[in-house]
Amino acid sequence: MARRPLVAGNWKMNGLKSSIGELEKIVAGARSLRDTDVMICPPATLIESFAAAASGSAVTIGGQDCHAQAEGAYTGEISAEMLRDAGARAVIVGHSERRQYHCETNEVVRAKLLAALRADLLAILCVGETRAERDGGRTHEVVDSQLDGSLPDGTKNVVIAYEPIWAIGSGETPTASDVGAMHGFIRELLAVKCGQAAAEIRILYGGSVKPSNAKELLAVDNVDGALVGGASLKAEDFLAIAGVYG
Ligand code: PGA
Repeated sequence: MARRPLVAGNWKMNGLKSSIGELEKIVAGARSLRDTDVMICPPATLIESFAAAASGSAVTIGGQDCHAQAEGAYTGEISAEMLRDAGARAVIVGHSERRQYHCETNEVVRAKLLAALRADLLAILCVGETRAERDGGRTHEVVDSQLDGSLPDGTKNVVIAYEPIWAIGSGETPTASDVGAMHGFIRELLAVKCGQAAAEIRILYGGSVKPSNAKELLAVDNVDGALVGGASLKAEDFLAIAGVYG
């Protein structure tokens, strides 16, 4: 089963209106990529202008988080419907920084994922263990319970991002064989939860993906692309990563 790779950039809380030039470079560079889906998830303030600049190109725009409700008295929040209205076609849910700094539980993440599907957005669901959990031999257990708690059975329009928390922004990555083992494990869990659709669900690797390690990490079995943080802020680096698949 050939899954079309996806390379998505998560800009986190970075970027101003003046960053549009970087997006334009990404849009121009992505023109030559025939076999890869390319996405940028800028801060919410830039979604509308980025979606306009990427319109008609191979680059799609995503949000970084959404609220579970469609509308209402939730000061400061942004709903999945609002993201779609602004031009987003996808949204990241359950990023470890949301889980950690905003105390998002699996239950909250699950509700956000359902909101994304309701608004017809592709949901990118993040899972991954902390350093302490890994050292304690609990990686499989943690990822299993995150997937079980936040992914509704039978979900189709979803991408999983395996992001070991200790690898995010640290410059450290698991070995290619560790990544392969985890992605294989996640594929098995998906088969139980989603049946035949599991074979079509893309599993991205995230955590310190850079031009220098992308080729090795993205060649691993069951790695169907990358979720890129820091290195997605520079068009040249991001395109070098996205260009691995051609
Ligand atoms: P990083 O972030 O590439 O800067 O490690 C990845 C992420 O948090 O999605």
